[in-house]
Amino acid sequence: MSRGHLELGLFAPTVGRMDPIGPPTMYLVSEVPQQVSITYEANRRLAHMLDRGGLEFFFMAQRGGRGFGASRFWSHALDSFTVAAAIADATERLRIVSTVHTAFYHPAMVARMGATLDQISGGRWGLNLVSGWAKPEFEMIDIPFLEHGERYRQTEEFTEVLRLFWNEDGFDYEGDYYTIRGGYAQPKPEGTPPLFNAGASDAAREFVARHCDWYFTGALSAEQLRDDAKDIRARAARHGRDIKVIVYLFGLIRDSEAQAQAEVEEIMARRDDDAARALIEGLSGQSLGTFAKGFGEGVAEAELLHNTIIGVGSGKLIGTHQQAADALEAYQGAGLDGAVFCFRNFEADTASFIENVVPILETRGIRRPRR
Ligand SMILES: Cc1cc2nc3c(=O)[nH]c(=O)nc-3n(C[C@H](O)[C@H](O)[C@H](O)COP(=O)(O)O)c2cc1C
Repeated sequence: MSRGHLELGLFAPTVGRMDPIGPPTMYLVSEVPQQVSITYEANRRLAHMLDRGGLEFFFMAQRGGRGFGASRFWSHALDSFTVAAAIADATERLRIVSTVHTAFYHPAMVARMGATLDQISGGRWGLNLVSGWAKPEFEMIDIPFLEHGERYRQTEEFTEVLRLFWNEDGFDYEGDYYTIRGGYAQPKPEGTPPLFNAGASDAAREFVARHCDWYFTGALSAEQLRDDAKDIRARAARHGRDIKVIVYLFGLIRDSEAQAQAEVEEIMARRDDDAARALIEGLSGQSLGTFAKGFGEGVAEAELLHNTIIGVGSGKLIGTHQQAADALEAYQGAGLDGAVFCFRNFEADTASFIENVVPILETRGIRRPRR
């Protein structure tokens, strides 16, 4: 049976924490030693590694603000547009995704940035549209933090305007959030860049069904992914559309299970509960997001904290290379099209993933060999 091609890549370390704020980290809410550097240079090396290894995705989030908790988790964030331009020029095949907080930018400007990135990358750039959930990031720059449903309505208008700038000239648009008269932007991208969204709520899913090409989920298991994929595809089908599903995963993939479990204990021993609680409060307090949905109401606090500390609510591949391949096979069987990874030691773990896990996936027909 042909299964298609599971696309893989990195949730790149363009967001995290490092000197002078505190010990380096990205997706471990823990002060355990990690090989993470929120710098362009480190990201460029990783992008080269992915490009040479034939992987597909270099995904970048966007944050703004001072970080979470007393330790200021996620205090650092590189700009995902300018990094995209440089990475596009430095790579040949890799697909690069930037993230935009729709409330912080005007769609006319993003249309222009996107058309430029489309040119620099030769059609390898895409955009993740986020409505935002961290209230302090809005307050810092005095942008109104609208109620959840309204944030998604504004994102929807943003996306309509963005698409118009990319596809038409001389258009008028009259919405609740944007008014455009004789809208015009040249150059245009060769084709409309792929659009992503990572929301979990009903509002987010409806937005994805109508406007996006990829749905990003934080599914914790293949079973959860099956439900997510079925739901989003049914919603999209009602609009005559098809959607690809991508997941973000924290990988702790080692030669033995015992070694991986020993590292879990090391991570938990130096956990940063204060920052984890600040993240949970931000996510589940403001919106019915991934966390509320993923863990459900009434889930024990210890479990919620554990899932936050390791991978900030992501799915987790903890174990051997074979076990990681088994899990990816199960996810693919449940309807997955792509996955981006975070790691404890970004460079070493990315190299090991390409060397040890990807060949198993190719042998099993989960991915087409690209080399
Ligand atoms: C893979 C992934 C990437 C995300 N990237 C960002 C981001 O860069 N910036 C951001 O503010 N939120 C980001 N989010 C949060 C979502 O956009 C969304 O707001 C959150 O999951 C809550 O869901 P809801 O908005 O549907 O309530 C991300 C979520 C996931 C799962």
